[in-house]
Amino acid sequence: MELVIVGSGKMARAIIEGARKLHDITVIARDEDALKEMAKKYKVKTAALKSFNIHGKNLILCMKPYALKDATSTLMGRANLILSVLAGTKIATIKQNIKANHYIRVMPNLAATFKKSMTTLCGDEAYKDEAIEICKSLGKTLWVGSEKELDIATAVAGSGPAFLALVAEALSDGAVKEGLKREDANLLVKGLFEGFAPLIKNEHPALIKDGVMSPGGTTAAGYSALEEYGVRNGFIKAITKAYERTL
Ligand SMILES: NC(=O)c1ccc[n+]([C@@H]2O[C@H](COP(=O)([O-])OP(=O)(O)OC[C@H]3O[C@@H](n4cnc5c(N)ncnc54)[C@H](OP(=O)(O)O)[C@@H]3O)[C@@H](O)[C@H]2O)c1
Repeated sequence: MELVIVGSGKMARAIIEGARKLHDITVIARDEDALKEMAKKYKVKTAALKSFNIHGKNLILCMKPYALKDATSTLMGRANLILSVLAGTKIATIKQNIKANHYIRVMPNLAATFKKSMTTLCGDEAYKDEAIEICKSLGKTLWVGSEKELDIATAVAGSGPAFLALVAEALSDGAVKEGLKREDANLLVKGLFEGFAPLIKNEHPALIKDGVMSPGGTTAAGYSALEEYGVRNGFIKAITKAYERTL
């Protein structure tokens, strides 16, 4: 498929990294130096964003949500398909700024760089299969039936890497506080997350916890501290706050 990626930032690069072997990619952005560097690094075509003719093309919007109006104001023509990664930006808003036959919102996460994104999609079912196929080159996909569900998924899987990074950093800090070298603490946390991935894939979280926690043991002591300090409720609130920000 021919894809035009709009933007030269982190998400644009993650998508290019995942999709460039399967799709014919052109990047359009306002930063000319970034375009030159990307053409060399990713072997993709590039063009200036200003006055680019999008007629009949399939676009992936990767600019910041606040930049939608500014970035699309000089584009010419009517696109075939718009895939938008803009967090919290509704299809109605995208339609007001850019003309196309079909609109789909997609919410990948930064793990797309390693083809491990958990990407949620919703929108025009006519291009559901094509959109899923594009996003599969970034990792796993979930199609949902409404923008509300996509916005909730954004809080979990889009923002999730930042939330889990807080957990990783805090575990490392705790280990250093008790006297472990920072380098060793970071190594332990990296190994922990790597090992946790297949565990959570195959087991319910409550059963993982039960499997580790022995009566009166170390895990039970640590776990009760997490509950005492409201970590569970903190995460539930984080999802609510992140979701509310998309409204
Ligand atoms: N990062 C994530 O984990 C993540 C996850 C899911 C979704 N997203 C979504 O992905 C989108 C991009 O995020 P990012 O993390 O890739 O941000 P980023 O690295 O800061 O890149 C933002 C891009 O937007 C461009 N831009 C900003 N203002 C512009 C304007 N007025 N006209 C034209 N281009 C403009 C920037 O161009 P310049 O370099 O020229 O400023 C840059 O190419 C956002 O909408 C975000 O909601 C991000």
